[in-house]
Amino acid sequence: MKQVFLETFGCQMNVADTDRMEFILFHSGYRRTWEKEDADLILVNTCSIREKAEQKTFSLFGGLKPLKAINPNLILGLTGCMGQQDGEKMLKRMPFLDFVLGPDQVEGIGKAVNRARESEKSFVWTGFDSKKIYSIPEIPGDLPQKPGPSAFVNIIKGCDKFCTFCIVPFTRGREKSREPDELYQEIRHLIKHGAKEIILLGQNVNSYGKRGLTNPIPFHELLYKIEEIPGLQRLRFTTSHPNDFTRETIRAYRDIDVLVNHLHLPIQSGNNEVLKSMRRDHTVEEYLELIDELKSEVPGVSLTTDIIVGFPGETDAQFQDTMKIMERIGCSSSFMFSYSPRPGTPANEFKDSVPEETKRQRLQEIIQLQNRMTEEQGKTYQGKTVEVLIEGKSARPGYSLKGRNPQYWRVNAKDSEGRYQPGDMVQVRIEQTSGHGLSGIIQ
Ligand code: SAH
Ligand code: SF4
Ligand code: F3S
Repeated sequence: MKQVFLETFGCQMNVADTDRMEFILFHSGYRRTWEKEDADLILVNTCSIREKAEQKTFSLFGGLKPLKAINPNLILGLTGCMGQQDGEKMLKRMPFLDFVLGPDQVEGIGKAVNRARESEKSFVWTGFDSKKIYSIPEIPGDLPQKPGPSAFVNIIKGCDKFCTFCIVPFTRGREKSREPDELYQEIRHLIKHGAKEIILLGQNVNSYGKRGLTNPIPFHELLYKIEEIPGLQRLRFTTSHPNDFTRETIRAYRDIDVLVNHLHLPIQSGNNEVLKSMRRDHTVEEYLELIDELKSEVPGVSLTTDIIVGFPGETDAQFQDTMKIMERIGCSSSFMFSYSPRPGTPANEFKDSVPEETKRQRLQEIIQLQNRMTEEQGKTYQGKTVEVLIEGKSARPGYSLKGRNPQYWRVNAKDSEGRYQPGDMVQVRIEQTSGHGLSGIIQ
């Protein structure tokens, strides 16, 4: 049996693509290994969202190169967004690579590996498929592994937003949605094999249905249809864009029981000038209006967001606006980033870059603010009972299981009699809170 070692950087879309490649390769006789040294094939699924992600990839490949000398039959492939963005450059920089594949070539991974086996010459296979539709066909037969209690389902790929800082529209191409029937079928299949929670994925899920469907339906209608699938216990989606987030979707939150009361809605900055220069096409006020409506319709909803600090031209006062908005929104947690210039994006040409030291300080300041808010919100769970979907074993001493509550807080659970296992939905009384985690006893 041949063995494949898979490494993933970047977002959940990349995680889903890696899973898909594992699945396709499984049907060509490959089994996954967690030891690089044992592998006949190593694939690194890359991300180019920030420079740091790229640096990590280069250093990983530095460590993989000697394995080629030990095992000349080893095939080494780079897949994902760095491949799409800089295919030929990657081969020049790392001539020991056998191939480079883009995110739209995931379905062809088997073909690429065969070609690499048959020929000495390295190759680049990137570009966007010209088909109007986006389909992930079902492969009959066994799954390489059972899906976990929480499973991802890609509903839309690509992004048409072209925020000035972002590489994604260049690495993932134009938006295309998957046919609803294909989605229902995949969700039913996942539930049949043990999934309890489904997380709908896309760079901009709220754009679902705008392109690529024979009978277009909007995102909120898709949610109502998915709700009807028997056995589904929780439904989530990520990522949302404020401009496409509709009132109907707010109502769906209110109406659909399995839709959890958590929303990840990136704002990026709390200043309108900066938002304009980022080409987010909405104002701070519009964002606040949206979340205020959501909060009033869906009591107890928790929010998370993405923030970029140190965008070109961001002044201290503009950064302070972001700090104020963060307090006003009151997210339970956030992803906060220091702006990283991306070659080929409009913002890369903007003047007035913010000094690295200033970016670093702003990032520290905003992380501290978020940590404080997270801690305060965590304390409000003390003594309360929350519903937790058990996903696996906990690393926290004294707590055997871990999972998440609907609001997406990580929860460690004490199960003294060993009654529960991953996939179970339990009630946990919170006795301790720390940082981003809650811990308690199963009732
Ligand atoms: N589609 C999602 C997010 C995709 S990327 C959305 O529009 O919200 C995830 C996050 O990475 C972004 O929300 C943004 O905060 C951050 N990001 C993207 N490009 C970046 C860059 N050049 N520098 C720093 N952070 C960036
Ligand atoms: Fe990037 Fe903007 Fe698209 Fe999100 S919406 S992926 S930040 S271009
Ligand atoms: Fe990274 Fe590509 Fe996702 S750039 S964040 S892996 S879409």
